[in-house]
Amino acid sequence: MKKPHNHLLIIFGASGDLTYRKLIPSVFDLYNQNLLPDNFGILGLGRTEMSDSDFKLKMSQAIDKYSSTKIKSAESKEKFLDYLFYYAFNTKEQKEYAGLKEKIFSLNQSCQTDNNYIFYLATPPSMYSIIPKYLALEGLNDESDGFKRLIVEKPFGFDLKTAQQLNHELRTEFHEEQIYRIDHYLGKETVQNLLVTRFSNGVFEPLWNRNYIHHVEITSTEDFGVGTRGGYYEGSGALRDMVQNHLLLLASLVAMEPPTLINADSIRNEIVKVLQSLRPIPEDKVEEFVIRGQYIASKIKGKQIKGYREEEGVDPHSRTETFVAMKFFIDNWRWAGVPFYIRTGKYLPTKVTEIVIHFQSTPHHIFSEDKAIRDQQNQLVIRIQPDEGLLLKFGMKVPGAGFNVQDVNMDFHYSSLNDTYLPSAYERLLLDSMLGDPTPYWRIDAVEAAWKFVTPFIIA
Ligand code: BG6
Repeated sequence: MKKPHNHLLIIFGASGDLTYRKLIPSVFDLYNQNLLPDNFGILGLGRTEMSDSDFKLKMSQAIDKYSSTKIKSAESKEKFLDYLFYYAFNTKEQKEYAGLKEKIFSLNQSCQTDNNYIFYLATPPSMYSIIPKYLALEGLNDESDGFKRLIVEKPFGFDLKTAQQLNHELRTEFHEEQIYRIDHYLGKETVQNLLVTRFSNGVFEPLWNRNYIHHVEITSTEDFGVGTRGGYYEGSGALRDMVQNHLLLLASLVAMEPPTLINADSIRNEIVKVLQSLRPIPEDKVEEFVIRGQYIASKIKGKQIKGYREEEGVDPHSRTETFVAMKFFIDNWRWAGVPFYIRTGKYLPTKVTEIVIHFQSTPHHIFSEDKAIRDQQNQLVIRIQPDEGLLLKFGMKVPGAGFNVQDVNMDFHYSSLNDTYLPSAYERLLLDSMLGDPTPYWRIDAVEAAWKFVTPFIIA
């Protein structure tokens, strides 16, 4: 594997949960696989006062808890912790950015990171337009002496208008090529494998269209509630939190045309074409196409759970949806008339993300008079998580007299591959941003096309 160029990773929001649970453990996993550059450093920024050694201690615990590769030795972890530095800093204050610049420059010197910087915004979205502006005022967007990249976490906006506004603000200071809009679904191995399943197997190609596919179902359910994230979720709901980004992305990967090349632009061009072909759901037809729900207090597996409206940070009269089921169409030649169904929600019976392709049943039925059996369809189940894999359901003769048909499975599990390490989504995404490959990141036009589709039926 290629190694990234020397650089400094600068994390805004370094005292927060994302840094603790995902970012540092994932960078450690890259280190363990020898995928970090020769010269490297991480500068954590946050309002909390902390010394370098406090930060290292905290991150050492994060690694113990959340990294997916084994800690080779206490010595190797200590060596990794040498990359870490911390600077207490108020991101909202423009006057503090001169000090930050000095800190960055001095680390750049001592770590010999060749003026290459990646800024990771693990902050509340309200900071997304402020930080880039202040960085730019200090010239920290200028790529004449080394790369300067900006990674932004979802949500990218709140609806179409705010997304356009945010994109405008980001692009006033940084070029589109410098902006990496992260969606962790794009970093999942099984999501990337969708491209390989579709475009490396001749057997699927002739079948992957309206002539042979009856409908497509995309499900992503969770068996837990909003937990401590009520404050955020209340302003978001399932449509913004899951549908506008992760699930429309899955739909795009299922529906896209083959890219001409495997590179960022070719793939992203095909994704955006799907999103732009989504048939708008007219306001007076929303009820026909979209169902929203909210979890209420109940007993699950013997455990009493709170209703959504009783969660911390949630309005007791909230109308925010924790469940969405919807149907939509993609108006293009390949998919004309094929319904796509999306379903997502919190506190549902199980945690699973999967895509089911339902093929047309046979045109003429010879084995049974029974309608249920006659209507049986072959299904291809693409399990994104857990138990990542692929399953094909098909009819087989029940041994014995007559011609009775029964559904059986051909099932592949990633776990059955020996010695195969499935990197975490953040590990893949961080590595790609370090390598300067924006393929698994959202491009501006796709973000806006997804918002354009979803915005009319989001209830404020
Ligand atoms: C996040 C959402 O983007 O994705 C969460 O904000 C959700 O609400 C999570 O739980 C689901 O991710 P995954 O990888 O567990 O399916």
